[in-house]
Formats: sequence, C-alpha cells, structure tokens
Amino acid sequence: MKQNKIAILDLGSEDNSVLARKIRAMGVYSEIYSYDVDPAELTKSGELKGIILSGGANTTVDGQPLSVNPEIFTLGVPVGVRGMDPVEGRKVFSLKNPDKIRKFVFERCGAIVTWNIFNFIEEKISELKQEIGNEKVILALSGGVDSSVVAALLYKAIGSNLTCVHVNHGLLRKGEPEQVIEVFGNQFGTNLVYVDAQERFLSKLKGVSDPEEKRKIIGAEFIRVFEEEARKLEGISFLAQGTIYPDIVESGTKTAKKVKSHHNVGGLPDDLNFKLIEPLKYLFKDEVRACGKALGLPTGMINRQPFPGPGLGVRCLGEITPERLEIVRESDAILREEFSNLGLDRRVWQYFTVVPDFKSTGVRDGGRSYEYPVIIRAVNTVDAMTATVEPLDYKVLARLTERITTEVKGVNRVVYDVTPKPVATIEWE
Ligand code: XMP
Repeated sequence: MKQNKIAILDLGSEDNSVLARKIRAMGVYSEIYSYDVDPAELTKSGELKGIILSGGANTTVDGQPLSVNPEIFTLGVPVGVRGMDPVEGRKVFSLKNPDKIRKFVFERCGAIVTWNIFNFIEEKISELKQEIGNEKVILALSGGVDSSVVAALLYKAIGSNLTCVHVNHGLLRKGEPEQVIEVFGNQFGTNLVYVDAQERFLSKLKGVSDPEEKRKIIGAEFIRVFEEEARKLEGISFLAQGTIYPDIVESGTKTAKKVKSHHNVGGLPDDLNFKLIEPLKYLFKDEVRACGKALGLPTGMINRQPFPGPGLGVRCLGEITPERLEIVRESDAILREEFSNLGLDRRVWQYFTVVPDFKSTGVRDGGRSYEYPVIIRAVNTVDAMTATVEPLDYKVLARLTERITTEVKGVNRVVYDVTPKPVATIEWE
C-alpha cells in the first residue's frame, strides 16, 4: 500500500514542522514544501491525500506577496488553510484547531494510517537498493545518532558495498571510538575504516587558542582526512550523509529566517564526484531514534545527548593540550556515569564538563596545590536557541566534586555554571 501523504505548503507559518509532526503522529506521512512548489512534485512520492496552506507572520518574500500555483487546486485532493485568509474563489477548509486538522486528514482527505517507522525502513531499503544498485557508498561515521542510523540502514540495504570511515580526531568522548568499532565492526560487520588521527589534529591545533580558529582547523582537517581515505578506496560512487529534517528546515526556507547553517561533510573537492544520498532527510529526531532502535542499535547509542562536531575541542578552553584534554575527557566520563546512575541522563537535555586554561590554588595532602578547575554544565532546552539550567541537587554536586577532585589527576576545584542561554551560550566556546 502506498504511503498516504499530506503536503504542507509553507506560506509563512513559523510552526510548520510542529504541524508536520502532529500529522505524522496521527499515522499519516506529512512533508513541508515551499509555497511555490511545482504541483508535479507533490504527487511524485507516496499517495497525495490533501494539501494544507499554512500561513503566518511572514506574508511576503522580497516584497512580493506569497501566492500558490493555482494548479494545486486541480490535483483532485482537498485543500485546507490555517493562519491565513481563505483563497478567493476556491473551495478550502478552514483548519482552526487540532480537532479540525484531524477531521480534515481522515474525513475530508480520507487518509489512512500508513506511516510508521517499520514501513519507512522497508520502503527506504528497497528505494536505496534501487538507487544504488551494485555501486559503492562511503559514509563518515562519527558514532552520533544520525550517522549511526544511516550506517545501520545502508548496511541492511547494500551490505558490503557500504564502507564506513570513522575518524578519531582525539576530541571524542571516552569510549566512543571503541563503541563504534564494537557495534559496526564486530556486531554488524560493516566494512569499517578506523583512522587514528589524534596526533595529527593535536599538532595542527598546537598553539591555537582562538575558538573560531580552532573550529575552522578541526572542520578543515576532518575533511582532509576523510578525503584521503576516500581516495584510497576504489570505485566509490555515493557519499551518504546523516542530514535530518530539522537540519533542512532550520537551514531556512524561502519564507523563514535562517536559524543556523548546518554542515556535515560538506566541502569535499569536486573531483571526488560523489553523488549524495541522505536517507534520513525527512525524519525528525525522535523518528531517527525509533528507526535506530528498530534496526537493532544499542539504546546508549540512540539516546545520546547532542555532541558538537568539534567535540571536546570546544570544551578544552583556549589552547588544547593533552593534559587538559585528558581532564575534560575523564571528568565528562564521571559526569555521564553519575547522571546515568541517577536517571538524570533521560531527563537533562545536555550535560558536560569544561576545563579552562588557568589554574587556581588549593590544598592537597596538607600542602599547597596549583591545579585546574572543572566546570560542570547541565541544561535543558527545546531547540537549543534558549536554554535553562538544570537545578541540580546539592548532594549530586557534592558527590561529583568529590569524585572529580579525587579521580581526575590535576583538578583541585569544581564549579557549577548556573547561567541560562541567553546570556551565555550552552558551550563555553
Ligand atoms: P551554543 O553553544 O551555541 O550551542 O548555545 C547550541 C547547541 O549546538 C551545539 N554546538 C555545535 N554543534 N558543531 C555542532 O555540530 C558546532 O560547532 C557546535 N557548537 C555548538 C551545542 O553543543 C549545543 O547543543
């Protein structure tokens, strides 16, 4: 049975993705399109059952009022409107509340429940098989949720024609490279190229203390390492990426302001000539997680908190040194262990430690010590644009302090960052 679909046309509403999620949660696939989409696009995949014109605050683009291609009214499916006036001379349904939306989807459009993650996986695998054929695919596998799910899905579809490249840039959390090797190398049995580039990154970063400069070096070096590995492999046609739906939506539609630009392994040289595949590009984060679970990935890997691309590099403030990198990695491991024991890992959105590039005075074994402080950060947010601080219990903080100052060499002080975003950002750099 073809997947039923409701198309949302973006006419300036700010919460189109909330609407798309709601409709998917009803069991009907929904996708957001630009207001001026070619109507033929809408019927290309799945079975189009209805269209929603979704208006809002932004009513113009470049000074021109938004208008839809009148052909969308000739596709033979009901059209609903929300957040805007009805379209003159056309029969449309007004969708003022959730109840009206549900009625529209099931009664007016006659959609049936066809959307669930198992159907998605089944359809995606057959689609990928067709698209890729006997050609070969390369994937940069960081071990984060998105790239891991792409790896699992592609492995199901094309097996040994997939090669995953895991670059250990030395800025990963404790145990991460080992987990990637265990899950993808040993359990799944994918072709996995493990690149130990720790020394290479550290030497490039030596003497660099400016945060933006650090980010640039890490990003550029990552591409260089990946490119070198890709050149060593023969006959690769496709580059797979773990782009997900919020990356696309947040990168800006015509009517919405750009929130932030996302990049995965962009910036590869043109002569590598890869065709791009992005199998998760229409999934929301929770759907990506459900997909990973259904494909048998370990829960620890699926339910991970977000982790920035430059990794621990932006949590080892100023110039990155092996000594402080070790402190941030070990203290982070203790924090994660304690949060997991207390069940806080399932409740707190993001939590990590930071090590500044200065020391302070303390007392150890009856004498003066001069060592680094460790900063703990734990925040909650919906979209990472604003964040509040988790009000950690004092007993938890005391236990963390005790463990970090005794178990991590070179630390004599622990502080808790109680600053929301804004005025601070979530990360320190
Ligand atoms: P800030 O620090 O800007 O972070 O409040 C918001 C969220 O984005 C993550 N972050 C990054 N993610 N590359 C990434 O992939 C980056 O360079 C980067 N910088 C920050 C951060 O961890 C938080 O979740």
